[in-house]
Amino acid sequence: MSKYYINAAHKKSRIHKEIYGHFSEHLGRCIYEGLYVGENSEIPNVNGMRTDVVEALKEIRVPVLRWPGGCFADEYHWKDGIGPKETRKKMINTHWGGVVEDNSFGTHEYMELCRQLGCETYVNGNLGSGTVQEMSEWVEYMTFNGVSPMADLRAKNGHPEPWKVDFFGVGNENWGCGGNMTPEFYGNEYRRYQTYVRQYNSPGMMAAEEYPGKIRKIACGPNVDDTEWTDGVLRTLFRHCEKRLHGNADGLSLHYYTHPEGWEKKGSATDFDEKTWYKTLSKALYMEDLIRMHGAIMDQYDPEKKLGLIVDEWGTWFNVEPGTNPGFLYQQNTMRDALVACLNLNIFNKHSDRVRMACIAQMVNVLQAVILTEGPKMVKTPTWHVFDLFKEHQEAVLLDSFLETKEIGEEEEYMVPNLSESASLDPQGRLQITMGNLSVTEDYPVEAFITGFAGKKAAARILHAPMRAMNTFEEPETVKSEDFQVELTEGKLSFTIPACSVLQITVEE
Ligand code: AHR
Repeated sequence: MSKYYINAAHKKSRIHKEIYGHFSEHLGRCIYEGLYVGENSEIPNVNGMRTDVVEALKEIRVPVLRWPGGCFADEYHWKDGIGPKETRKKMINTHWGGVVEDNSFGTHEYMELCRQLGCETYVNGNLGSGTVQEMSEWVEYMTFNGVSPMADLRAKNGHPEPWKVDFFGVGNENWGCGGNMTPEFYGNEYRRYQTYVRQYNSPGMMAAEEYPGKIRKIACGPNVDDTEWTDGVLRTLFRHCEKRLHGNADGLSLHYYTHPEGWEKKGSATDFDEKTWYKTLSKALYMEDLIRMHGAIMDQYDPEKKLGLIVDEWGTWFNVEPGTNPGFLYQQNTMRDALVACLNLNIFNKHSDRVRMACIAQMVNVLQAVILTEGPKMVKTPTWHVFDLFKEHQEAVLLDSFLETKEIGEEEEYMVPNLSESASLDPQGRLQITMGNLSVTEDYPVEAFITGFAGKKAAARILHAPMRAMNTFEEPETVKSEDFQVELTEGKLSFTIPACSVLQITVEE
């Protein structure tokens, strides 16, 4: 019996809804085919956006969408993607698959997609190969509500009203595909570029501390465990402007992908054994070490935790599905991906004092996608179901909780705890619990003791299937969540969590 303690009287950090964010890049079939099919497509769409996909994404309450990359962002010239579609430049997507990019999805289409999803916008600017002027003009084009060359151009292109840019990334992976910079060089470039990311709608156009519509600026952070980058960038950002940093930078990104066989080999998305299952989950759990590692450096410069850690690329990265374009990064999604998602989301919740946003890579048809499409067909992956189960944590308050666990696995190096959890108090005053069972074979009885909350009724849903189970276009509902029985008596919840499952419980007073 695992004992589980939840103290609802001990409220911790706010779980920013952006932790449940997504990432969409001009890569493979994520944007084109996956999200955008064009107004003339036979696939049902609204202004070119696939209706089935948008509806499925609305169900999981996508809070924020990052675009247009990734590595693509530092090669993207936004003016190529505005104006009449027939005159937009066609070019080769040199980064991903060598296919023709016709720029039919640009700024207006992205803003329309976010409008349909009802989500916040996170635009990633081009620092690697673009100019300060280009970045500055993009922000002017999107957000300025007045008379100016870019605002006039936006109106001429059919959108007189400005849009809201909630988050703006100043470059992407500038230690690699975004220009191969050193941390100090990037730090200085960040300072220069972000200066011209104007807060057009702030009072007096001054970068005031807080006001509605403020653009939150995200600096490029480390790759995996590159602490030298974190330290070098932060040292450069804070130099000579300690007092003014807040407002000039609101977040530092972190990218970490889970690939069981290392970066070179990666491994199959669907053909794996129990040993690889545990190895994958153990590698996913490394996310917590990374948050602690980079968080400790951030604490030195920013003890008040004003700067958010923005994990804007995370998820599994396996070999592509056999027979597909290797540059399209299309992979299937199994219960292993579901557990990886569960572990990451529980970790982000637990570290929500520092982690302010996380974007799974990527939204549709690329890497650990929540949706896969093939022509007019669409499936919700096991990862979609995890986002569905976890959505009630959005904007909830993390609660103090502790679960007794034991180590399980097949190799000493890759042992994992048998269970993972997080608990929160949602905006409606309900207790939300999410738990994963990492064992392939063992069910575990759990007794949960809740203090500071007079629970009267409990309801639960579970995602439970064999480890290699997946949803295909032929059988789209092999993995789906269902109701689950839990017992609630005098502040104690009892249940047995089955092997290889993700469980969500709501308790009401
Ligand atoms: O998500 C795929 C790629 O992974 C992104 O373009 C890049 O930022 C990262 O290396």
